[in-house]
Amino acid sequence: MQIFLDTAEVESIRKYAAWGVIDGVTTNPSLIARSGRVFEDVIAEICGIVEGPISAEVTALDTAGMLEQAAPLAAIAPNVIIKVPLTPEGLRATQVLTGGGTKVNVTLCFSATQALLAAKAGATYVSPFVGRLDDRGECGMDLIEQILQVYSHYGDFRTQVLVASVRSADHVRQAGLLGADVCTVPPKILDEMIQHDLTDSGLAAFLKDWESARKA
Ligand code: G3P
Repeated sequence: MQIFLDTAEVESIRKYAAWGVIDGVTTNPSLIARSGRVFEDVIAEICGIVEGPISAEVTALDTAGMLEQAAPLAAIAPNVIIKVPLTPEGLRATQVLTGGGTKVNVTLCFSATQALLAAKAGATYVSPFVGRLDDRGECGMDLIEQILQVYSHYGDFRTQVLVASVRSADHVRQAGLLGADVCTVPPKILDEMIQHDLTDSGLAAFLKDWESARKA
């Protein structure tokens, strides 16, 4: 499973990219707004840090506007993925962009039927938001299972399932167990993923034994 970082904070991307486990980055308008920086500048800087796919989301609601915004974003670097919402206009934009060789991440997916349409439009990625479904009492990971099952029946679907709106390390564990293609993870969840008390206590014990042996 590929791991993308779900943030627009460049310093954080530098920090976690240095771990050697980050395959790509996803951003959205909320994350870019939180960074307080110019959109294109942030995307260009991220593309200079991570070689893998970098999702940059359009904010237009009509297909023509989406395509107009997509062109300069796609021109920033070859690894830019255009992110569009799962709406009729977004599907149309997906078809046009994909036809022209631009990769698309169709976002804000909340059902298997939406994911089916994203695949038919030629999306490179579909982003189901598991946390937001959990937030309202549904089970986000059930949706991932359903989408993977639907896609598995059709060999001509190339769309990768990108688990988004991740709230815990357990979401990542479940995404891996289900065989999701990608999981995009906020920085704090990466910290949660690496942490284990037995690693900490084991390391402390090794170092203590090492020091005692050297003194003996
Ligand atoms: O990249 C989109 C996404 O992961 C949104 O997450 O936490 O705002 O539901 P969240």
